[in-house]
Amino acid sequence: MKKFLLLVALTALVLGSFTACTAKPKGPVKVGIAIYKFDDTFMTNYRTEMGTYLKSLETTDTKYEITVTDGKNDQATQTEQIDSFIAQSYDVLIINLVDLTAAGAIIAKVKAAGIPTVFINRQPSVADMALWDKITYVGAKAEDSGTYQGEIALDLWNAAGSTMDKNGDGILQYVMLMGQAIHQDAALRTEYSIKKLVDAGVKVEKLFEERANWNRDEGQVQMASAIAQYGDKIEVVFGNNDDMALGAIQALKAANMVVPVIGVDATAPALDSIGLGDLAGTVLNDSVGQAHTSVDKALALLKGDTLVKEYWVPYVKVTPENFEDFK
Ligand code: GAL
Ligand code: CA
Repeated sequence: MKKFLLLVALTALVLGSFTACTAKPKGPVKVGIAIYKFDDTFMTNYRTEMGTYLKSLETTDTKYEITVTDGKNDQATQTEQIDSFIAQSYDVLIINLVDLTAAGAIIAKVKAAGIPTVFINRQPSVADMALWDKITYVGAKAEDSGTYQGEIALDLWNAAGSTMDKNGDGILQYVMLMGQAIHQDAALRTEYSIKKLVDAGVKVEKLFEERANWNRDEGQVQMASAIAQYGDKIEVVFGNNDDMALGAIQALKAANMVVPVIGVDATAPALDSIGLGDLAGTVLNDSVGQAHTSVDKALALLKGDTLVKEYWVPYVKVTPENFEDFK
């Protein structure tokens, strides 16, 4: 009887310490996400998906405490937000820099604090990325998005019975609305969309090329100014993203003009616009794919995995033929 009681007591002790051990609350993994600014259609889809995806990865043992900050397109503001993540010992960071020239300073900070970091959407230089092994970049090859835009224009130009060459001079007169100067996507989309046409033997003439900084209202204003200067000479419009392309369409409508406009991103309003017969085409900038990859890489870095310096999510050409597939 005594032995039995001792066994019961021992079992209780063992079980007790066992439950005490598993019940010991393991704090959530603190994930800090710094976005260059909230007022951006594509980055809004991207950040929303990162949050949803992280939550979907939660288990009874692993919870994620996610904080997403709005850099308000100001590097000083964003740097303060990153400093605050560091001061609060966040476990891992995902950063969409405002200003790429700040990359070196930011990397020095996260390195000193030992916080692995994934950069997204705006790619730091090779030299900056070499500063630490616990950082990586997730993005999409901007050249490809430009090339796809060029292909869409080329197909319209070559189509049987094409009326694209309005003045019949055998030259494609174009307008280019560009994104923010700091961004590799702006320069590369501008270059590769036209390169595709030129490589295919199409003669092109640039009528107008201005920045509208990824923004719909600015796109509309710049397009109105292009129309005021060139009117019916304009035969195609390229927007480095859909918001600027949609702004251009508003300006064209206001002027009672119909000209093919081609964007990038395949946002919901852009797909609707294709459905209405307004936007001629776009290129899927895969916010879901990029969100999942950046979260996966952040968690891999946190686990201690060794990663390469860059990960690429493919672009996809979107036209009236296939746009329904992206809705
Ligand atoms: C680009 C995207 C733009 C804008 C920009 C922000 O990749 O096409 O619409 O979101 O990123 O950095
Ligand atoms: Ca022409």
